[in-house]
Amino acid sequence: MKHLITLENMSVEWWERLYKRCRDIIANPSDYAHEMDGRVMASLFYEPSSRTSFSFQAAMMRLGGKVMGFSDPNTSSAAKGETLADTIRVFTTFSDVAVIRASVAGTAEEVARWSHCPIINAGDGGHTHPTQTLADLTTISMYRGKIGGIHIGLCGDLRNGRTVHSLIHALSKFPDIKFTMISPAGLALPSESETYLRSRGIEYGISESLEDVLPELDILYMTRVQKERFADRAEFERYKGVYLLTKDKLALARKDALIMHPLPRADEISPDVDSDPRAVYFDQVFYGMYIRMSLLIELLTPEF
Ligand code: NCD
Repeated sequence: MKHLITLENMSVEWWERLYKRCRDIIANPSDYAHEMDGRVMASLFYEPSSRTSFSFQAAMMRLGGKVMGFSDPNTSSAAKGETLADTIRVFTTFSDVAVIRASVAGTAEEVARWSHCPIINAGDGGHTHPTQTLADLTTISMYRGKIGGIHIGLCGDLRNGRTVHSLIHALSKFPDIKFTMISPAGLALPSESETYLRSRGIEYGISESLEDVLPELDILYMTRVQKERFADRAEFERYKGVYLLTKDKLALARKDALIMHPLPRADEISPDVDSDPRAVYFDQVFYGMYIRMSLLIELLTPEF
């Protein structure tokens, strides 16, 4: 059974197949409208979500499939004390694929052991978020024609931002990628991600200043300070709003730079940036749905 738990071992060939199909779906949506006829997707969200959960639901429905699940675990038997293992055994008996988001790192990997169908990790705590990365890679490819040969600045809460951790896994597979990590020292990248980069011989810069680095970047990837991961409210208050990209600041960026953000934004990008052609964060939402359609086909079609 094929799951999507992490992109740590993603191959470039796998990515290229997914991306090629994604482009074809965008160009010829009616060719795919019945691809998932008769199939059911379980959507199991133990943490809040808008984009990821609805993007997956829309993806499945546009392929002709159906969706069931919950966005609030208190409406499931979890509220009666049912274990996660039992919930997974039950829901995956009813479905052909299950998308799960949970607050504990490693949940998707753990539940795959009990599952009767492919599991897709839609975010496991502050750990990873592989399908957001697929949306990010699609956006980069669409705008730049390829993924290699970029200098990307990852900015914000690099400690808790799971989208950043998965993006590092994936981008490391492509040639000539330069990273600069932009965060306050207290929100620096976890040692796990640093070890991963070092193990692949990838060097990266570190800066606390967005302004210093911005002029050199091909891509600026902004992230939200992950309020829900802070046990200490005062610590969160100290960091919130630490980087705010404004129209004035954007004047420092290259003319062909891309400004990305997985969304939702809190106070990282001011609305006056939205109309700039370099701002592509709503394109990430658009491509996210199509790449998820491609992923569902990949996981549910036996020949792949
Ligand atoms: C991200 C997440 O949930 O990790 N959102 C998303 O899925 N697009 C980013 C975030 O919440 O900051």
